[in-house]
Amino acid sequence: MRWQSKALILLFLSTAPGGRKLYRKLQDLSGSNRLDIDDQYGMKRQLLMRLVQQRIPIEDKDFLEVGTGWYPIVPLILFVLGARRTVTVDLNPWLTRQSLRSALAGLIAVASRIDSDFNLPTGHTASKLTPLLDRVEKSDQPISEILASAAIDYRMPCDICKTNLPVSSIDYYISSNVLEHLPVEVLAGMLAESRRLLRPGGFHLHHIDLGDHYTFDKRISKINFLRYSSQTWKLLGGGSLGFVNRLRRSDYIKLLADAGFQPIHEHAFHDPRVATLLEQGFKVHPDYAGRPADDLTITVLDVFAKRRPATQNEASHEH
Ligand SMILES: C[S@@+](CC[C@H](N)C(=O)[O-])C[C@H]1O[C@@H](n2cnc3c(N)ncnc32)[C@H](O)[C@@H]1O
Repeated sequence: MRWQSKALILLFLSTAPGGRKLYRKLQDLSGSNRLDIDDQYGMKRQLLMRLVQQRIPIEDKDFLEVGTGWYPIVPLILFVLGARRTVTVDLNPWLTRQSLRSALAGLIAVASRIDSDFNLPTGHTASKLTPLLDRVEKSDQPISEILASAAIDYRMPCDICKTNLPVSSIDYYISSNVLEHLPVEVLAGMLAESRRLLRPGGFHLHHIDLGDHYTFDKRISKINFLRYSSQTWKLLGGGSLGFVNRLRRSDYIKLLADAGFQPIHEHAFHDPRVATLLEQGFKVHPDYAGRPADDLTITVLDVFAKRRPATQNEASHEH
C-alpha cells in the first residue's frame, strides 16, 4: 500500500461518525496491530534500562505513563520491577481484555529475559504475571480491577493535561511513542501540569519517535513529511488518527526549558539514510530549512529532564 492511501483511510476514519470504533475493528481484523513481543519488549526494555543505567530507583516510586495504547507493557514491567504505582492514562479505549491478555502472555513468554536483563531472581517475572493472566482468562473481573491488583491505575478516557491527581503525587512521567502524537499546546499543558504533580527531584523520561510514521512504504524516508508546509500536512497527514506534530529535537528541548525542565540525559539516534539524503540535496520545506542538521537527522530521541530550581520570579508567581 502507498503511504498516501493509508493516510486517506485514516483521514476518513478520523472524521466519519463511528470511525474510531471502526478503526479499532479493522486493526483487529487485519492483525495490523498484533503484538510483536520481541519488538515491543526490546523497545520498552531499552527505555527502562536507561533508568537502571542512570541509577534511578524504581522500587516504591509512583509513575505516570502518558498514552497507554493497546498493550500496557511499560506498566506491567514497572509492576514486576517493584514500582509502588503506575497511573497510566489514555484518551482512547485501545486497551481491551484481549490486548491485555496478549501483553501478559507475551511478557510471560520473555519472562526469563526480563529476569536476566533486570537482575531479578529466576522465576520472578513469571510469578508476578501468571496470576494476572489467569484472572484475565478465567474470571470476569473488569480489566481495570485486574490491573489495579498489579498497582496499575488505568484511567480512560483521561487527558494527560487534566488528570486530577493530587499535588506532588508522582515521581516520574514516562512515555513511549506518544509525545510525537500530541499537539504542541497539549505538550505545553502536560509539562505545565507536571510541575504541579511531580515531587521534588522528580522528572520526565520520554521515548519519542521523530520520524515519518508512514515508512512502511519503502519509497519514503523518515523525513519525507518535512517536505510539506503545515497547511499541506494537515490535509495529507491522516487526520486526528494519524496525527504527528513533526516537532524536532530542539523544539522538545525548548518546550521542556520553557516549562522549567532541563535535560539531564539524552540518547539520540541519527538516521544515516537521512544524512545521505540531505547530502544528496533532499529539500525540506522552508519551515525546516534553517535548522541545525541534527534536528533533521535525529529520528529517535530518549530524553530525561529534571525540574530546574524555580527562579525568584517563577517562585513568586507560583505562590
Ligand atoms: C502511538 S500510541 C502509543 C501507545 C503506547 N505507549 C505504545 O508504546 O504502544 C499513542 C497513545 O497516546 C494516546 N494519547 C494521545 N493524546 C493523548 C492525551 N492528550 N492524553 C492521554 N493519552 C493520549 C493515544 O490515544 C494512544 O493510545
